[in-house]
Amino acid sequence: MFIRGVGRTKFGVLREQIPQLMYEAILNAKKDAKISVEDIDACIVSNFFGGTIDNQSHLNSLIASLLPGFDKQSIRVESACASGGAAFNLATKLLNNYENVLVVGVEKMTNRDVSTVTDALASAADLRLEQDNGLTYPAAYALIASEYFDKYGVTHEALDRISLKNHENANKNPLAHFYHKKVTLNEIKESPVVCSPLRLFDCSPISDGAAAVILSATKSSERDVEILSSEMAVDTLSITQREDIIKMKATEKASKMAFNKASIKPNDISLAEIHDCFTINELVSLESIGFCKFGKASDLNTSITGEFPVNTDGGLKADGHPIGATGVAQITELVTQLRGEAGDRQVKKRAYGLAHNIGGSGGSAVVTILKGNIYV
Ligand code: COA
Repeated sequence: MFIRGVGRTKFGVLREQIPQLMYEAILNAKKDAKISVEDIDACIVSNFFGGTIDNQSHLNSLIASLLPGFDKQSIRVESACASGGAAFNLATKLLNNYENVLVVGVEKMTNRDVSTVTDALASAADLRLEQDNGLTYPAAYALIASEYFDKYGVTHEALDRISLKNHENANKNPLAHFYHKKVTLNEIKESPVVCSPLRLFDCSPISDGAAAVILSATKSSERDVEILSSEMAVDTLSITQREDIIKMKATEKASKMAFNKASIKPNDISLAEIHDCFTINELVSLESIGFCKFGKASDLNTSITGEFPVNTDGGLKADGHPIGATGVAQITELVTQLRGEAGDRQVKKRAYGLAHNIGGSGGSAVVTILKGNIYV
């Protein structure tokens, strides 16, 4: 299985609505893949709350309007913030039947005020155990951060460094939500508290955007990037039903399966896209995937020039987090890096890339491993 083409829009507060965003991402991926509409056999659209806050569902049918001539199988996938990863994962299964599958992820979030969006996001949490008790996502991850600090003696300084790194990476990514925003460690440390201990610069922003990927069963050119594995697992919807809220079980399971299938180990991975919806999640996810021991992720050197670059595009924190597009955009970044086409933010080692995308507070997780063409 291969990725033949990738494309995306800018992420941020954008004028464009869902159809325009999808169209631009698809057009860019089509151009990159050098493929015509007739050769696309199926399509999967990833979107979280188009039907709820934008009053536009049935996005799988919208594909026929955006791609005149396309009248084949088209499905919409939703798995909260892991919608994009889940759509990509499903596309790998469809390659058993088809030659070329298009995945497009999209979210339009900035049409509504922040409290409406916060409520819509919270719908991905357990209704009775979490939503009814007012547990929004910043609050859920604040609980996770508090538990992590207590258990391992790690301080907020570790989260500040993740935020700074991801913002600096976004400053090298012209499509990132915060491309133009320069921030200092002091601004990060002194930013307003959103839900203690998490501050503004611990949170991913509310972003619009779309990303698209075209997968193929067979290799069509030297620029194609091989898909070694894509695995998905789930855990309880509510964090209140978990034994340990700082060990992400779905992530652990999906990672184990993905590494087994790819026949490689965590220390073979050259770079990773990790689901940093809140800075604390970059740490707990790196540990649950198996990149280091529990409590030790802040010791890893994850800058672009470091031993193990993480979130080279700026991550969800600073590239942005348009929910349905996020997991697909992670794949576009890995492909760009593995091809050696990432310009200012190009990493040195590009043998294998890993993408990690989760829904809610870890109730669903997708881990994908890609192989570059060049071994460095
Ligand atoms: N990080 C850094 N800066 C941010 C930011 C973020 N996450 N969100 C907004 N800003 C900046 C804006 O760019 C703006 O800067 P400016 O004054 O220089 O233009 C300023 O903060 C105010 O922006 P505004 O849109 O009014 O912020 P807000 O207070 O409405 O929203 C949050 C801030 C943190 C509440 C919002 O970003 C949020 O809810 N994030 C979490 C999203 C989420 O839960 N996603 C799902 C994860 S599971």
